[in-house]
Amino acid sequence: MHPDVKEIMFSESEIKNKIKELGERISNDYKECESITVVGILKGAVIFMSDLVRSISVPVFFDFMAVSSYSSSTESSGVVRILKDLDKNVESKHVLIVEDIVDTGLTLNYLINNLRNRNVASLKVCTLLDKPSRRKVDVRIDYNGFEIPDEFVVGYGLDFNECYRNLPYIAVLKPEVYRK
Ligand code: PRP
Repeated sequence: MHPDVKEIMFSESEIKNKIKELGERISNDYKECESITVVGILKGAVIFMSDLVRSISVPVFFDFMAVSSYSSSTESSGVVRILKDLDKNVESKHVLIVEDIVDTGLTLNYLINNLRNRNVASLKVCTLLDKPSRRKVDVRIDYNGFEIPDEFVVGYGLDFNECYRNLPYIAVLKPEVYRK
């Protein structure tokens, strides 16, 4: 275990099993569709997305958006800004937003409204983690991996000051690490 980690919340195998389950549900729900355009929200969702798409049996296209909502602190600022937009037009496409975590919901709320305006065939959301106790705006999540308590988590794509994204598990940091 990494020395900055207090405890592991979800192990590699728990994440793997959850992704298999999500992939099966998604594959079943979209089985009549020609394809799914999976939109990963950079950077946190990259690792989750790369594992999730390999558990989906329907043809998948990749695209990415980058938005900025946080400063380098652990608190949401509420400001959402597009840093990188989609490469392709998603009109008439079945779009699945993939997030690593939904916290206040501000980022997702913005993304849903933004993508809905592009005349997509359908729009759904899949997140690995959901922290409902922090919600500021009500957002609909179609596929939810794990509901978590209000603890700051890192790993499996999630960072603290851009560190720990490559940990293969989801973990809680030792408080002294983010109080530094
Ligand atoms: C995280 C996460 C979501 C957002 C959720 O991204 O990936 O996009 O925050 O927070 P919210 O529900 O309070 O809006 P972050 O801005 O930390 O960027 P990153 O993915 O590059 O780490």
